[in-house]
Amino acid sequence: MAELRATPPESRLRASLRPTYPADAPLLLRWRAEESVRRHQPLSEVSLGQLRAELALNRVDDLYRGRGDKFQWIILADAAPVGWITLVVTNWEHGLAELGYALTSAYQRRGLMVQGLNLLLADLFFHTELERIEARCSVENTGSQKVLTQLGFRREGRLRGYFVLHGERVDNYLYAILREDFVPPRPE
Ligand SMILES: CC(C)(COP(=O)(O)OP(=O)(O)OC[C@H]1O[C@@H](n2cnc3c(N)ncnc32)[C@H](O)[C@@H]1OP(=O)(O)O)[C@@H](O)C(=O)NCCC(=O)NCCS
Repeated sequence: MAELRATPPESRLRASLRPTYPADAPLLLRWRAEESVRRHQPLSEVSLGQLRAELALNRVDDLYRGRGDKFQWIILADAAPVGWITLVVTNWEHGLAELGYALTSAYQRRGLMVQGLNLLLADLFFHTELERIEARCSVENTGSQKVLTQLGFRREGRLRGYFVLHGERVDNYLYAILREDFVPPRPE
């Protein structure tokens, strides 16, 4: 995939995406350990070697050929790596996939995730066979809910006791966006 770029006003950071590489493993390991990144989502403990091995399997070109099941991108703010997006394709026949995402603490609350996800959604709906993209988040994660709403995702339901977070079962909201819901952002 060619690098994808958003065009915010001059005063804002500009988000772009690039596929992850094995060399990103130390960065991802560091981000995954941050308290703000783990606050609302259970991230499994993985070693540097496991992360590196997983990143070595990332073949973003497969997305455009309708195959593969897990893809990852680094979010860049201007040129700096600041977070990641994961896409898991759950069913190619029906065009179903789900998103995961996070920004490192210093780059949260600066409008970057909406920019990054908008770039990815445009690419997915224009260049792949995917029809429905889902995202789930803890009912406490208001930041994530606002991001999804801004992007045009609809809240479709409450998933009771969906995952264990810090020792407690936590409800999640299920969000989804269909191809026909997606409105590409106008250049600012
Ligand atoms: C949640 C997250 C993805 C939001 O992305 P972001 O780029 O920081 O969000 P924005 O700057 O566009 O903010 C969107 C809205 O959410 C609010 N918000 C962002 N982070 C928030 C937080 N931690 N707590 C409360 N509100 C938050 C913003 O104030 C803003 O509100 P407004 O629209 O009323 O002004 C990002 O903060 C993050 O990566 N958090 C840690 C990991 C995580 O929770 N990932 C999602 C798992 S489902």
